[in-house]
Amino acid sequence: MRPSLSLITILSLLFLPSAVTATTIGVTYISSPTLPPPEQVIANFLSLKITAVRLPVPDPDIIRAFSYTNISLFLAIPNSLIPSIAANISAASLWLYGHVIPFYPRAHITAISVGTHVLSQGDVTSADLLVPAIRNVYLSLTAIGIRQITVSTTFSFVNIMTTSFPPSSAEFQQPANSFVIKPLLDLLTETNSSFFVSLYPYSVYKLRPEIPIGFALFQQHAYNFREDTVTGVRYRNLFDLMVDAVIAAMVVAGHENIPVVVADTGWPCFDSNHEVEARDVYSKMYLQGLINHVRSGKGTPLRKEGAAEIYIYEVFDTNDAASMGLNSDGAWQNWGFCYPNMSMKFEIDFSNGGFPLTEAEDGMIITCLLLSLLVWYVILFGNPMATVNRY
Ligand SMILES: *[C@@H]1O[C@H](CO)[C@@H](O)[C@H](O)[C@H]1NC(C)=O
Ligand SMILES: *[C@@H]1O[C@H](CO)[C@@H](O)[C@H](O)[C@H]1NC(C)=O
Ligand SMILES: *[C@@H]1O[C@H](CO)[C@@H](O)[C@H](O)[C@H]1NC(C)=O
Ligand SMILES: *[C@@H]1O[C@H](CO)[C@@H](O)[C@H](O)[C@H]1NC(C)=O
Repeated sequence: MRPSLSLITILSLLFLPSAVTATTIGVTYISSPTLPPPEQVIANFLSLKITAVRLPVPDPDIIRAFSYTNISLFLAIPNSLIPSIAANISAASLWLYGHVIPFYPRAHITAISVGTHVLSQGDVTSADLLVPAIRNVYLSLTAIGIRQITVSTTFSFVNIMTTSFPPSSAEFQQPANSFVIKPLLDLLTETNSSFFVSLYPYSVYKLRPEIPIGFALFQQHAYNFREDTVTGVRYRNLFDLMVDAVIAAMVVAGHENIPVVVADTGWPCFDSNHEVEARDVYSKMYLQGLINHVRSGKGTPLRKEGAAEIYIYEVFDTNDAASMGLNSDGAWQNWGFCYPNMSMKFEIDFSNGGFPLTEAEDGMIITCLLLSLLVWYVILFGNPMATVNRY
């Protein structure tokens, strides 16, 4: 029998007491000689009230430029270094002495991703080396006395999940689950670290024509929802549904409490193949919808605090093969929300949103009603898990 999330587990997740902390919203910044110098870009971040930045290409000079800004930094170690770091802890220290030790804590480094999307390259050897490499970076950090930096790796949602429909039935794909994800989750629990995932409702929307675009773009309409038929939970946007799929898969793997960091998410504003949805107007709707939704403090149905951090992809267009910009067929997409002169392509308010307590309370009341209904359903008719998923 396939392991599956029980109704009780889902219900207990819904009611898990937890300190609700605000989700951090950051941006992905890749510098280039054709862009303004980091000092100017950082000043721009500060004026936009951006408090967290992901640096997939963490040049030491750029890390230094963030000193004393109180902007938190998410760094990435290149995939090419994974074999040497896995084999030799000195290689981990070497990287840390180049990118962390000289700047920390003046530069507020909070996270290190050892490799990015390693599984998408289909390279089982380096995937095998992932957990030993992460462990070596963690051990090297703690040997220096730094315990506040979370060390993990970034997976791509589409590479690790079986299905996101319904989210409560989601699991991690085999064989990756057994040989890398499960050992990683054990390590993350042991080291109090977070799970990093790249998550693009745009990609899932493009793969599944039955999904209405409004559901992917945070547009609220009375009938714009998807119901998880196992749990009866209603999803009003694709982002929450995907985050909860990850959370449900972690529960199946035996880990309920690991924070989820969405290492990158966004919506393209241009596609050289003329994909009709890759437009400024949709990109703005997605990004502002995401920010407003996250700032509302409602979290996701399975986790009250939602994702711990979310990094928007990206500040400036980068059409290089190393990032997502360039496809194998030479076509490209633009994902940046700023022009190279730092003016915004469209307005986004990063500080938007309050904390509408009444909506949170409403949610609580609905959840309570739902619970009593389900309990009565179980008492009267038995386990609803036995019904077919018609999602
Ligand atoms: C630094 O940032 C944290 C959280 O982002 C905030 O709580 C704190 O007040 C900031 N400190 C300063 C000196 O701005
Ligand atoms: C580990 O790396 C260090 C520094 O790069 C090197 O001096 C040492 O010989 C390596 N050890 C092994 C066993 O490869
Ligand atoms: C785990 O990390 C969180 C924040 O990342 C911190 O608040 C907490 O104190 C840490 N717990 C332990 C046991 O280190
Ligand atoms: C920045 O660049 C964009 C696109 O090239 C242009 O439309 C805009 O006017 C520029 N803004 C400023 C302030 O120069």
